[in-house]
Amino acid sequence: MINFDSIKHVRGESQFVYDFIPFEKVLYAYVFYSPVAHGIIKKINLDNALGIPGVRYIFTYKDITGENQVGGIIQDEVLLAENEVDFIGQPIALVVADNFLTAKHAAKLIKCDIEELPSIFDPREAFQKGSLIIPPRVFSLGDVDEAWKECDVIVEDRVESGSQEHLYLETQGSIAFPVENEGIKIFSSTQNPTGVQRVAARVLNMPMNKIEVDVLRIGGGFGGKEDQATHWAVLTAMAAKKLQTAVKLILPRQEDMRITGKRHPYSTDFKIGLKKDGKIVAYEVTYYQNAGAAADLSPAILERTLFHTTNSYYIPNVRATAISCKTNLPPFTAFRGFGGPQAMFVMECALYKASQVLGIDYHQLQKINLLKDGDEFPYGQRAENCRAKVCYDSLEKIYKVDEVKGRIEKFNNQNRFIKKSYSIMPVCFGISFTTTFLNQASALVHVYTDGSVSISTAAVEMGQGVNAKLINIASRVFSIPPTRIKLETTNTTRIANTSPTAASKGSDLNGFATMEACQAILKRLKKLAATELKIEDENQIEFKDEVVYCKGEKTDLTWNKIVQKAYVNRVSLSAHAFHATPGLYFDRDTSKGHPFAYHVYGTALIEVTVDCLRGTYKLDSVQVVHDLGETLHPVVDKGQIEGGIVQGIGWMTMEEIIYDKRGKLITDSLSTYKIPDVYGAPEKIEIHFLENAPNDFGPFKSKAVGEPPFMYGIGAFFAILKAMNVFRPGLEIKFIAPMTHERVLMTLYSEVKEKVRL
Ligand code: MTE
Ligand code: HPA
Ligand code: MOS
Repeated sequence: MINFDSIKHVRGESQFVYDFIPFEKVLYAYVFYSPVAHGIIKKINLDNALGIPGVRYIFTYKDITGENQVGGIIQDEVLLAENEVDFIGQPIALVVADNFLTAKHAAKLIKCDIEELPSIFDPREAFQKGSLIIPPRVFSLGDVDEAWKECDVIVEDRVESGSQEHLYLETQGSIAFPVENEGIKIFSSTQNPTGVQRVAARVLNMPMNKIEVDVLRIGGGFGGKEDQATHWAVLTAMAAKKLQTAVKLILPRQEDMRITGKRHPYSTDFKIGLKKDGKIVAYEVTYYQNAGAAADLSPAILERTLFHTTNSYYIPNVRATAISCKTNLPPFTAFRGFGGPQAMFVMECALYKASQVLGIDYHQLQKINLLKDGDEFPYGQRAENCRAKVCYDSLEKIYKVDEVKGRIEKFNNQNRFIKKSYSIMPVCFGISFTTTFLNQASALVHVYTDGSVSISTAAVEMGQGVNAKLINIASRVFSIPPTRIKLETTNTTRIANTSPTAASKGSDLNGFATMEACQAILKRLKKLAATELKIEDENQIEFKDEVVYCKGEKTDLTWNKIVQKAYVNRVSLSAHAFHATPGLYFDRDTSKGHPFAYHVYGTALIEVTVDCLRGTYKLDSVQVVHDLGETLHPVVDKGQIEGGIVQGIGWMTMEEIIYDKRGKLITDSLSTYKIPDVYGAPEKIEIHFLENAPNDFGPFKSKAVGEPPFMYGIGAFFAILKAMNVFRPGLEIKFIAPMTHERVLMTLYSEVKEKVRL
């Protein structure tokens, strides 16, 4: 099995939005955006810009024919600024010109007088000033206040985790063009075609059926195009409608980095109480989420932070409070893990600190508190078919953690300035959209008279290999080779009312829908075959490798023949199926329910080498035992795990987003923003798929894979920390991520710095 896109990708043959030429005349758009973080627009003068030859039109909010509103969960975000601007990068005007450079040049000539207002960038300051996106949310279990009395030790601290740039290879972009009957067609690089359609309809004051959104594939999304692709798509739709020609808007890399949202930075306080033996009794935590200037997906992300407060552990008394704080930064958005990683990082910090105070090994503490069947999560669901312990134990066994420990100790005894260490990171991630109604999908399957098959679903291919998985599912149901099956674009006219491809649910939801549509057609074909073979019971018919079997015996009927017979006998060769995950519910008022179909488990072992003179480090290896259920596609799944690990390590170690005092992004290019390259990535990644682990809630017993591996990267932080502690026992380390090389150095020599006043 291969991932069908990979060869085209390597040859540069895959098409992205940039490559489409839907119209003879394509105009180019460029966004003029706010240069200040907070202010009142006093006057805007477009004259100079409009005077440039080749400029066709400049749009401001006054050109909007419907609502100037793109907000999804909360309607608090305008398409183009009216009187006030709330962050650097907020779109104010859209210049449309004959070519890209003209549009860009003209945008620089727009004069905009803005009276600056005070800005807030820090979430805790926003909280103090009452600047919130939604009221605080609380999840609780047991009685924390009572439980402190039972604790032998109580440890408190603060944790900071940083933002992260998605750095999808294809930047945000869209092409829209007019079609007959006042319709608009949009090619958008989006994870959420229906979201684009819905908001375009609202902004253009058009019915949704006149807007068609089509996605062939996207060059990565990682959550960054779940909500935030909509803005650019709607801008091109507005321009195409007014100018009655195709309009293309592709954000240049630097602009994409500056003006689109990233992972939410969090500032968190925790308090953890344990018994002397290491059992956790109580955990209290308050998350301050930096949401940026508008809600975007922040409330849903905040909620998933709460869902993953205790990660892979059982804690009987928990109170977790989460506060979404409104600041003057570009609205932060979905990013692989969707708030989960921020919570799990804090949980590990709490365990690490508790282990130091208690004098029990950090990994021993993890093991003592691992989740098991029947344990209640703070949201009321109980762990079922829990694989936390089996993953952890298998990891220790397969990768011989005892030997690793010995080898590292020996190395550290022989080396004064270079120190090695390892850490273990267990992950438990809930699978389903936490917004219950989004757990739905549909598929439309056609079998053509030559026996070839076409599949349309709600899933967007973004490199995660969902198309390969869906083809695999159809191939298994029909028992025909994958090469006879084509996966179509994701299109709102063919498949309506779709959920975004997100929450790692793309292949689950659309996989079930595809399976059910294929089964509906297969059932008709079996019935026809039974009639042809003159038997009563269609259940005695089987399709195997393009041949029809009857009572286990090969017949003369083939896949091609039976398909042709179906057509001639006027039996439908098409099916549409709808799938909704059964059994899910969640009550937002009590914060209890059964929000997840199941959980994905896994454990990672991470080894690092830290140069304690220079502060530099190297990731030696990441070894994983991961629970995929029964894999749908080993190549794709392995790729997802490897990619997630490297992206997670990047977030925890080297990817540092920095704004200046005025809220301007400093790390706005790849010379200042460092992501793991081939040298920064672990030298070795080994992945072991947990055996005998079927999942009753996934197609063909599989499990979702997209997001959970990201959180293995958290282990890198603690491996580095441990190595630093070997070099400097007793060194107080602040829980601030990312742990960049600079931070390692400055932490190791913080006292020196004070003494010599560096
Ligand atoms: N893998 C690639 N190559 N590119 C991506 O953009 N997005 C991730 C993950 N893996 C992503 C990826 C995220 S954030 C999610 S939610 C899932 O893929 C979405 O796809 P799935 O639901 O089909 O797993
Ligand atoms: N993940 C991703 N997107 C979402 C979710 C989720 O859990 N809930 C609502 N949108
Ligand atoms: Mo993924 S963050 O749910 O797109």
